[in-house]
Amino acid sequence: MLKTHGCGDLRAAHAGEKVTLAGWVHRRRDHGGLTFIDLRDRSGLAQVVFNPATSSVAHAVGHTLRGEWVVQVTGEVARRPQGTENAKMPTGEVEIIAGSATVLNESKTPPFYVNEDAPVDEAVRLQYRYIDLRKERMQRNMILRHRAVKFMRDFLDARGFLEIETPILIKSTPEGARDFLVPSRLQPGSFYALPQSPQQLKQLLMVAGYERYFQMARCFRDEDLRADRQPEFTQMDLEMSFVEMADVMGLVEEMHTELVRKIVPEKRLLATPFPRLDYKDAMSRYGSDKPDLRFGMEITDITGLARTTQFQVFKAAAQSGVVKGIVAPGCAGYSRKQTDELLEFVRGKGAKGLVTIALEKIAGSLEALTQEQVRSSAGRHVTIDEIKAMAGRMGATPGDLLLLVAGPEAETNAALGSLRQMMGERLKLADPSVLAFGWVVNFPLLEWRPEENRWDSPHNPFCAPIDQDTPLLDMDPGRAMAKQYDLICNGYEAGGGSIRNHKRAAQEKILALMGHDAAAREEQFGQLLGALEYGAPPHGGIATGIDRLVMLLTGEENIRQTIAFPKTQNGADLLFGAPAPVSEKQLQELSITVKEQQRSGERPAGA
Ligand code: AMO
Repeated sequence: MLKTHGCGDLRAAHAGEKVTLAGWVHRRRDHGGLTFIDLRDRSGLAQVVFNPATSSVAHAVGHTLRGEWVVQVTGEVARRPQGTENAKMPTGEVEIIAGSATVLNESKTPPFYVNEDAPVDEAVRLQYRYIDLRKERMQRNMILRHRAVKFMRDFLDARGFLEIETPILIKSTPEGARDFLVPSRLQPGSFYALPQSPQQLKQLLMVAGYERYFQMARCFRDEDLRADRQPEFTQMDLEMSFVEMADVMGLVEEMHTELVRKIVPEKRLLATPFPRLDYKDAMSRYGSDKPDLRFGMEITDITGLARTTQFQVFKAAAQSGVVKGIVAPGCAGYSRKQTDELLEFVRGKGAKGLVTIALEKIAGSLEALTQEQVRSSAGRHVTIDEIKAMAGRMGATPGDLLLLVAGPEAETNAALGSLRQMMGERLKLADPSVLAFGWVVNFPLLEWRPEENRWDSPHNPFCAPIDQDTPLLDMDPGRAMAKQYDLICNGYEAGGGSIRNHKRAAQEKILALMGHDAAAREEQFGQLLGALEYGAPPHGGIATGIDRLVMLLTGEENIRQTIAFPKTQNGADLLFGAPAPVSEKQLQELSITVKEQQRSGERPAGA
């Protein structure tokens, strides 16, 4: 090794020892004839002092050093002179008096500072990711990710799970997104699809008798990207035989509870055991199937009260839909401009309008409010008594702002759910040091797609109905509930899984309801259906998103911060410049012709 210690490992106890360090020049300062370097490696920072009185040769080298140069230093560890210790640095009690120094490599001036956390354009960060990853914050994320995954592996290993790899070149594995395709050279015109998840493969492993499988599985989905989505991501994927919902949920809950306590002890779990919400309740109370449970601001139904007002919008909605709302605490002072912004926001989320009612802050209670002390966008069509009744039902107090939406139930819930999340963040109601895990259960097994005239599965088609609902598949499929469970955390879907159909007939019935005829079932799902006829055990499992989980554990707002080499919002890799055109020869080998006008990456001459 070119070093004896990590820079960040040195403490007062090392004083007097001769050490060799190697790392990057984090910062250089010249001071009173001395040169000071903060030397950085993965373990942290150490202060190196180049003193001409100790070694004029080393001092001369020290003087040439620039940021991000790679250097090896040998010297004695000394306690820093009294009054110059740095309590903020773990190594702040000591410094290394350089006896010799060797430049191992120079560096061009980096495109951005590694020693500062100033905002840098993300495109530049991704283009120079190898420099970006040197930053303390990114290192912390990568280290935490490693530790979280290691914890999960050990946890599962201790419980008898085997990690088994499954292929990346495979056939389409429907999970609701578009596939990435890979052309076959040996079978011209045929394509592999990259797995959207190892779903069918892990089920086949259950048929094969492995009973407890897991994999840190790479998944590929060609879908519209968002802050919490990448085209290529990693799942903690597991499957178990001879289990019920409670077994999988119990195991996953224990894993996440222990993981948080061990890996991020500074974070607090909101509630253990994790609260369980019915899908219907989640939609009705939070307007989301992955609500942020760190704060209340629940949606209240005031349809009954709204029906009796003289306000036409409310009356009409109450006939065929609902009137619901949330309370924005302490926001009665919002200006017209601010409430107009909220109106625009809910319109963007599918609501037709927004009624705002500001209750002036007064010394007394709700009852004491006078007509002059409320400001309502519904004007005088809603009387002060009606407002008080609504505010009372919603749990509001003077000083609050009521935000009401009228319309069809699903749209109203969705718009208010988005508004709730946005206002919760704006009002800082969600404590960033809290992790609010929960389960959402009792999802419908199937949803009707009127435009396609068929049923579809909200999750994946392999989920079984709950036992007593099985007969409903013949009578009223839309009412059948699924053995599905989603793990949620702080407003994100952290994972999802289910108990599967382990008998061919049951699986085929669901695929048939989804509009797959016998030929399509065989063509797309033949491998799984066939296996279910050879002694498939009852089984179920789950997959959680590692990237998303690490985002939540680190408090980052984007999963790109948790992935070493992520893609941009457009699916581009800015470091390698992928996707990129390939040579004519490669295309020929694959029997592929690219339509001229659709070629990307080629620019007209001079452009
Ligand atoms: P599902 O599709 O719900 O289930 O995916 C499981 C979890 O994977 C994460 N995830 C993603 N993370 C980043 N980028 C993406 N594009 C992305 N898509 C999904 C989420 C999600 O909760 N085979 C089933 C699991 C099962 O039933 O066992 C599946 O893949 O955190």
